[in-house]
Formats: sequence, structure tokens, C-alpha cells
Amino acid sequence: MTTPHGTLPTLDVHLTEADADAALRADARRGLTSTPKVLRPQWLYDARGSELFEQITALPEYYPFTAEREALAGGADEIARIAGADTFVELGSGSSTKSTLLLDAMSRTGELRHYVPVDVSAAALEEAVPGLVAGYPDLEVHGVVGDFTADLRSIPQVGRRLVVLLGGTIGNFEPEERRAFLDALSDALVPGEHFLVGTDLVKDEATLVAAYDDAAGVTAEFELNALTVLNRVLGADFDVEGFDYLAVWVPQSSRIEMRVRARRAMTVQVPALDLVVEFADGEEMRTEISTKFTRAGIAGELDAAGFDAVGWFTDPGERFGLTLARRRRSGAEPDQER
Ligand code: SAH
Ligand code: AVI
Repeated sequence: MTTPHGTLPTLDVHLTEADADAALRADARRGLTSTPKVLRPQWLYDARGSELFEQITALPEYYPFTAEREALAGGADEIARIAGADTFVELGSGSSTKSTLLLDAMSRTGELRHYVPVDVSAAALEEAVPGLVAGYPDLEVHGVVGDFTADLRSIPQVGRRLVVLLGGTIGNFEPEERRAFLDALSDALVPGEHFLVGTDLVKDEATLVAAYDDAAGVTAEFELNALTVLNRVLGADFDVEGFDYLAVWVPQSSRIEMRVRARRAMTVQVPALDLVVEFADGEEMRTEISTKFTRAGIAGELDAAGFDAVGWFTDPGERFGLTLARRRRSGAEPDQER
């Protein structure tokens, strides 16, 4: 569904608050009744969550933001040249802070016409879009409030596209969700179009855990905010103070798991789902995962989905990698033409 937004003509709402609530209900029912309990990460990003994520990006321990910015600063012109795109579609754009590096490089090629930031958070887009409209007067900015895991076909099919997923957000998917997302993206793109994906890279455990369990406690507040969202949207009565936060490196899955842990046994009412949820003393519930990759690993996953990796860009410290991939014409064989 497309409804023009009242104050921002450049913002389309494909996911209304009612749609988002319905999805949250379905997810919450599944997640709160599974063992172990688990929530999906997009529900962390209400207005408060998006604000807290912005604070995370400024934390000294949270290197992925700076490292990705460095990789983009070094690679943007080459990315723009190889992609040759007139339309820049950004999935999970948030505040679009780092995107300006690509917007500037793509503008320099003289080809860029459209910027399409897509985010599940209307608040983040409402904050970001007016500044982009003002800052890039020659660009058509068309924000989309939508869930990119559900709705890739609705991204505009204008011109030659570069689809971008920054922030390491691909690491927030489970492996099977990641595969489904890459397959769906491959289906939505025309052969020859490009996809740029940012991945945080495997490194020592202490650095990884510190990035997700910062001394100031901002990440803890961000993850615990998921419980506040459940309280508000589903009328649940989670005692947020009754939970601790922890970040755990799980080497077998090459990921950080973000979890909240009950400080005591608790019974939580979730009236909107007609559900009563029991937490044992010390029981953990996962609120997010953040998978860490290798260059070969992400290239292999892209290849399996019908993409050829055609560029690799990293920061000087090689902490974070950007893979530029081209949608193959068809089948499993890499395209001959470069
Ligand atoms: N790209 C930005 C923001 C990363 S935070 C950066 O690199 O700093 C992840 C962003 O993805 C958030 O703004 C969140 O609202 C959005 N997001 C997460 N899951 C999403 C989904 N399924 N569909 C659309 N947006 C999503
Ligand atoms: C957006 N996403 C990839 C961030 C990450 O690094 O996994 C979210 C985040 N969660 C806690 N800190 C950062």
C-alpha cells in the first residue's frame, strides 16, 4: 500500500503503523513462545531506538561505524564508477549519515538522479529526508517506509540501480534469512545492476564484545528498549529494570548475540496476544545478533544468490569490508564481461 505522507511529499509509507503492529504481534508471539526466547531486531528501532542507535555510532568502543566510513571514504569514487548508477537505493538507511559519501561520489559522475532511502523507522526517515532534499537540490529524494525483508519488489524500478545495505545490517539476519534476502534481492534486480553490502569482519573477541557492551551502557539501553516497545505496542508489563543486558561472542556461529537476562523469576502479561509468558530466574532472551564475516564468506554467499563480487573496499585497519557485487545475467556461471 502507498499512502502519501502528510508533511513530506518525498516520503512514501509502504508499512503503516498498523502493518508494523501486526508484524510485531506475529513475531512476538513466535519469539516469546519459542525456546530460547528471541525477538527480531527491527523492533529495536522505534523513535527512541533510532536515537539510541545514533548514540551508539558515536561510542569509542563501537568501531564499525568509523571503520565503514573510512572504507566508504576510500572507495566511494571507484564504487560510483563501477556501478554507473543513476538510482541509489539504500536499505535500512537510518540517518543516512555515511550515505553522503556515496551520494557525493555518485553526483560527481554526473549520472545520479534518484536517492531512495528505505527504512522500517518512519521517525528516522522523517528526520533524515528534509536535510537530504535541501542538501542535494538536483536529486530526486524518495524515502520509503518499508520492511526490506518483506517488500523488495516495491523499490522503484527506475533507471540503473545501485542497492546499498550499510552498517553491517546484513549481519542481523539469521543465515537462512540472509539467504532468502539475497535471493529476493537478486530476483528484484536486473542483470548488470549492483549491490553494495557492508560487513563487519571477524576479529578478536575482546574488541567485538566491547563494541556491543560499552562502558556507558548505551547498547544495554538500546537492547532493553525492545521490552519498552513490547509494553507500548502490545500492552505488555515487562519490568525493564528486572532484566540485565549481556553481549556474548558465539564463535561457532561467528556472531555476537545480544541478550537480556531475567534477574528473578517473572510472569509477564501480554494482553494484545492473550499470552502469559514465564521467565525463569536467569533466563535469557535474544534481542539481536550481529554476524561477523570474512571477505571470502560474503563473496560465496553473494555468488550463491547470483551475484559476482566485483569490488572489495576496507578501512586501513581492515576491520570492516564493503563488497560491491553485480547481478549476473542468469544461472550459476559468473558473467564473462566485466
Ligand atoms: N545504515 C545506517 C543505519 C544502520 S542501523 C548505518 O549504517 O549507520 C539499521 C537500520 O536498518 C535502522 O535504521 C533500522 O530501522 C533499519 N532496519 C532494520 N531492519 C529493517 C527492515 N527489515 N526493513 C527496513 N529497515 C530496517
Ligand atoms: C545496525 N546493526 C548492524 C548494528 C550492529 O552492529 O549489529 C546494530 C547494533 N546493535 C547494537 N549495537 C549496534
